[in-house]
Amino acid sequence: MMNSSILISRNLCVGYNDKAVMSDINFSLEAGKILAIVGPSGCGKSTLMRVLGGLDEPLSGECELLGIKVTEAQVRQREMTLRRSGFLFQGSALFSSLTLRENVEMPMREFLGVSNLQIRQLAEYKLALVGLAEAMDKLPSEVSGGMAKRAGIARAMALDPEIIFLDEPSAGLDPISSARLDELILKVRESFGTTIVLVSHEVPSILRTADFCVYLDSDTGTMGAYAPPKDFLQPGSHPKASAFFSQIKIS
Ligand SMILES: Nc1ncnc2c1ncn2[C@@H]1O[C@H](COP(=O)(O)OP(=O)(O)O)[C@@H](O)[C@H]1O
Ligand SMILES: [Mg+2]
Repeated sequence: MMNSSILISRNLCVGYNDKAVMSDINFSLEAGKILAIVGPSGCGKSTLMRVLGGLDEPLSGECELLGIKVTEAQVRQREMTLRRSGFLFQGSALFSSLTLRENVEMPMREFLGVSNLQIRQLAEYKLALVGLAEAMDKLPSEVSGGMAKRAGIARAMALDPEIIFLDEPSAGLDPISSARLDELILKVRESFGTTIVLVSHEVPSILRTADFCVYLDSDTGTMGAYAPPKDFLQPGSHPKASAFFSQIKIS
C-alpha cells in the first residue's frame, strides 16, 4: 500500500554550521493539502522550507518528500524530487532582464524536450492561469508586486509539479492583492491537486488557505504545534500558537 503522505518530517533539526535553529520537527502531510509554516520572523521558516524541499541538508533527522527520503537520497533521486517540485523563494526573484513569459519559459527550456512554439504556448497557458494573460511581455519592473508574485507562482508551476513551496508569497502586498493571491493558491490546488507548502506570518491568509499549520516556537527552538490553523483559535490549544493566531502580543 502506498503511503498517501507526500511530505514527512521525522525529528528534523535544521540550522547552520552545526548550530540548531529549529529542532523536533515532526509532521506528516497528505498529498493535495496546504501546509503553512508559521512563526515569528527569524525563527527558521525559510531554513525549514529549504530542507523540506530537499535543497539543504538538515543537521539531523529525516525528511521524506514524494516517497523519497531526501536526507539519504542519491544525487539522481534528489534531482528527481526537484524536477517534481516547484519553488517560489522569498522576494520572488524573477530574472529582471526577462519578460514574465520568458521567466516562466526558463525551467521549461531546461527540462522539457519540446519545440519553442510549444514552450511558448505552455508558458502562456500558465500565465493566463494566474491572471497575467495581458502582462506576459512585460518586464518584472513594469508590473505590480502582486503581479510579480503571481508570475513567480506561474514559474513554480512551469513543470507541473506535484508539490510547490512558496516562501512568504504575500509579503509586502496590500490586503487586496494578498487576498487575490490566497484565492490563486486555492485555485491551483483545486485545479491541479497540487500540494502546497507555504511560509507565512499573515494570520488572515493562513486561516483562508491552510489545512494544517506547523507552528515554530522561537523561544524553545522547537516545533510548538502541528494542527489545522482554526484549532489555534479554540481555547486550550498551544498557548503561543493561540496567541499568535489571535494576534495577541506576548512578551
Ligand atoms: N545562510 C545562513 N547562515 C547562517 N545563519 C543563517 C543563514 N540563513 C539564515 N540564518 C539564520 O537562521 C535563523 C533563521 O532564519 P530564517 O530561516 O531565514 O528565518 P525566517 O524565515 O523564519 O524569518 C536566523 O537567525 C538567521 O539569521
Ligand atoms: Mg524567511
